[in-house]
Amino acid sequence: MMLEGHQQIDVPTGVPIWDVDPYDPALLTDPSRYYAELRSNGSFSFIPKYSILACGRYEVTKEVFSDWERFVSSRGVGLQDFSLEEPWRPSSIVLEVDPPFHTKTRAVIERALSLRSVSNLRDKFLEAAENLIDVLLEKRTFEAIEDLAETYSTTVFPDAVGLRDSNRRRLVDYGEMVFNALGPDNEIRRAAMAKAPDVVPWITEQCRRDQLDPEGFGAAIYSAADTGEITEEEAGLLVRSLLSAGIDTTVTALGSAIWCLANNPEQFQILKSDPSLARWAFEETLRYTSPVHSFCRTANIDTVVAGVKIAEGTKILCVLGAANLDEEHWREADKFDIERRPSDHLALGVGIHGCVGQNVARAEANAVLTAIANKVESINLAGEPVWRPNNSVHTLDTLPVTFQAK
Ligand code: HEM
Repeated sequence: MMLEGHQQIDVPTGVPIWDVDPYDPALLTDPSRYYAELRSNGSFSFIPKYSILACGRYEVTKEVFSDWERFVSSRGVGLQDFSLEEPWRPSSIVLEVDPPFHTKTRAVIERALSLRSVSNLRDKFLEAAENLIDVLLEKRTFEAIEDLAETYSTTVFPDAVGLRDSNRRRLVDYGEMVFNALGPDNEIRRAAMAKAPDVVPWITEQCRRDQLDPEGFGAAIYSAADTGEITEEEAGLLVRSLLSAGIDTTVTALGSAIWCLANNPEQFQILKSDPSLARWAFEETLRYTSPVHSFCRTANIDTVVAGVKIAEGTKILCVLGAANLDEEHWREADKFDIERRPSDHLALGVGIHGCVGQNVARAEANAVLTAIANKVESINLAGEPVWRPNNSVHTLDTLPVTFQAK
């Protein structure tokens, strides 16, 4: 029998049955107890509401998430099993495929987003960050998600891709759709999907070659179609991957970085005294808040992990947010510490699907956090932060803050 687009499974021997809804809005907005319980349950928990396994201990989560041969992405990284049900849009030809096809598309996108091409943007990113922080310092009190994180990402990123017509609202809404679609058919998913008739045709249009500036990442992807490495249609789908994965994630991470610094003034002090720590402040934000809280894999064969027998067709919810706070892996896991230098967190994934846009995300964050470290004396909350439930992204909805100039 099917449930939420995948085959129901029997409870594997030795795995506790846990009556929880990981997609409950209350838990999505405040997940720390859920993360802790998931880890304390053992390597895996069986969640009857969705007939899935979930894991949140660091080692097991890393094993499942990175082993593309046993735990494939081509059957979808959400609850739906694409071998049994059609996805809502043509599936991603990088995120939702396996080798050997993945190797080909990944090479193209990796080249377009190489450290070298991102380095060329560094000065532009920094200038945009400094200008924005100056504007916000004039305002003093502002809404950090919309005025800072969204404004920054939706200015510099579409420009870097080469979009001529950058519509901030539609870009953010498309990301919401993509990430919420990975969850069950709940209220949150339906609300995001309601915007599809407006947003999807617009996004598809923006991915066409003639809509893209010849200098951007998008054009670099299309140049692989000229040499026959990929088709013109595949190039369009890879540009769509940038627009799907590159906005909401970065907006979330930037917003969460401000939240972390506002809540930990002593850490902001350390950053101000050494702005070169901006890079590590961002990595620690990623570890501490896990913008992508969970993605799935599907077992493609009968296999065993941590002594648990897993049947072919099993959907496994890999809870990256729980793994990134596992006390077995991290000392003082629940402390935000920018001097920790966490190079092995799972927030950007791991293995062959590890985030191909990480150079871009890091360049954006580095620019913003460096500008803040150089110009801002103090960051204070100016109201209660509000988290927004999302089936795959742990994100703030609003974050009122006050910046005081140096
Ligand atoms: C802080 C911001 C970001 C976070 C937290 C993040 C997170 C992730 C994670 C967890 C994965 C692995 C997915 C999996 O294994 O199933 C991933 C893959 C991916 N990311 Fe990011 N990402 C971020 C920024 C970006 C940006 C800026 C772009 C585009 C420029 C991007 C494009 C992609 C693409 C295309 C993939 C699929 C790669 C593949 O399957 O080989 N991401 N990201």
